[in-house]
Amino acid sequence: MESRLGIVLVLMLAAVSSAHGCTCATNKRTTCAPDLSGVCVCRLIGSAWVANCSTLTSKCLLMKTEMTPSKARRVPSHGFLDNDGIYDPDCTASGAFKAKQCNGTDTCWCVNSAGVRRTDKGDTKLNCSELVRTNHIFIELKHKKRSEPFVNSEVANALRYTIQNRYKLHPNYIKDIDYEYPLISINLKQNASQKSNSDVDIADVAYYFEKDVKRDSIFHSNNSFFLSVGGKPLDVEEMLIYYIDEKPPEFSMKHLTPGVIAVVVFVILSLIVGIIVLVVTRRRRTGKYKKVEIKEMGEMRRGQNL
Ligand SMILES: *[C@@H]1O[C@H](CO)[C@@H](O)[C@H](O)[C@H]1NC(C)=O
Ligand SMILES: *[C@@H]1O[C@H](CO)[C@@H](O)[C@H](O)[C@H]1NC(C)=O
Ligand SMILES: *[C@@H]1O[C@H](CO)[C@@H](O)[C@H](O)[C@H]1NC(C)=O
Ligand SMILES: *[C@@H]1O[C@H](CO)[C@@H](O)[C@H](O)[C@H]1NC(C)=O
Ligand SMILES: *[C@@H]1O[C@H](CO)[C@@H](O)[C@H](O)[C@H]1NC(C)=O
Repeated sequence: MESRLGIVLVLMLAAVSSAHGCTCATNKRTTCAPDLSGVCVCRLIGSAWVANCSTLTSKCLLMKTEMTPSKARRVPSHGFLDNDGIYDPDCTASGAFKAKQCNGTDTCWCVNSAGVRRTDKGDTKLNCSELVRTNHIFIELKHKKRSEPFVNSEVANALRYTIQNRYKLHPNYIKDIDYEYPLISINLKQNASQKSNSDVDIADVAYYFEKDVKRDSIFHSNNSFFLSVGGKPLDVEEMLIYYIDEKPPEFSMKHLTPGVIAVVVFVILSLIVGIIVLVVTRRRRTGKYKKVEIKEMGEMRRGQNL
């Protein structure tokens, strides 16, 4: 009886808060309620963090909420791919990644400001003296085959518009957008001295974008992320995100040429490929680990090519 009352109360509270429009536009992984003075306060699921709903939530905090299971989240069919670069991160008081991240109690590694590993894994004694900034993010999108290419300038305009308006990135940081059927490349550059406190970080922009492309949008509404170019849908089939740091990564691979500063991480495949991977994984239960290894090899190979 008591628990049923509790449920009713929760439902009523939920109804009240949504009736008052107390939701977080930029982060649906929050629980919102008006505080005593009636101001809508939204906390990240799984932590006491209060979200600033007029800007993007930091990638570190987002990754933390993702590690918290929530019944509200549907399990995407391509969930396997999502796990590829995800861990439960340690965030600073301002929501940034701590330079040193550990997996449980034994394995540690150093990350950049995008939370991407940039050193070999070590034990807990590993030293990460500073958080190295990712000041350049290169995104490559591949769209589905179509009978004729899009118009170059329309592709650039559509993406520029989305990055500025949906992710609130200042246009100064959108260096260039190139299109060569069927590949679109986007260069985002933002170094520490340029970035002001009110600027969103390019790492957060790339993460929101990645989630939108994966159909797992972080925005409260606008879930139906839809890219269109000249009125025609732009169906992204593949997305690669390259993280380039201020300092070269410190992997022990001897043949990594000096001066190479690329850390390449995610490969996001189309939904169809995602499902195939899942099927293969179900068949061979070790698939997950194999995938991770392939990713790291790819990381090295691509690093050399750049
Ligand atoms: C973390 O540890 C778990 C097992 O403890 C392992 O499966 C996973 O691959 C590790 N992740 C990283 C990033 O080292
Ligand atoms: C890490 O730094 C601490 C203090 O700065 C030092 O005592 C320790 O030996 C260092 N560990 C390694 C593995 O370099
Ligand atoms: C949702 O989309 C509308 C129009 O496309 C836009 O004005 C609004 O800012 C978007 N909201 C968010 C949270 O992105
Ligand atoms: C930051 O970017 C600006 C403009 O691209 C450049 O002039 C400046 O040298 C950069 N600063 C650092 C420390 O890289
Ligand atoms: C929320 O973010 C906006 C945009 O960056 C900023 O102007 C505002 O001061 C922030 N509010 C709080 C309470 O931090």
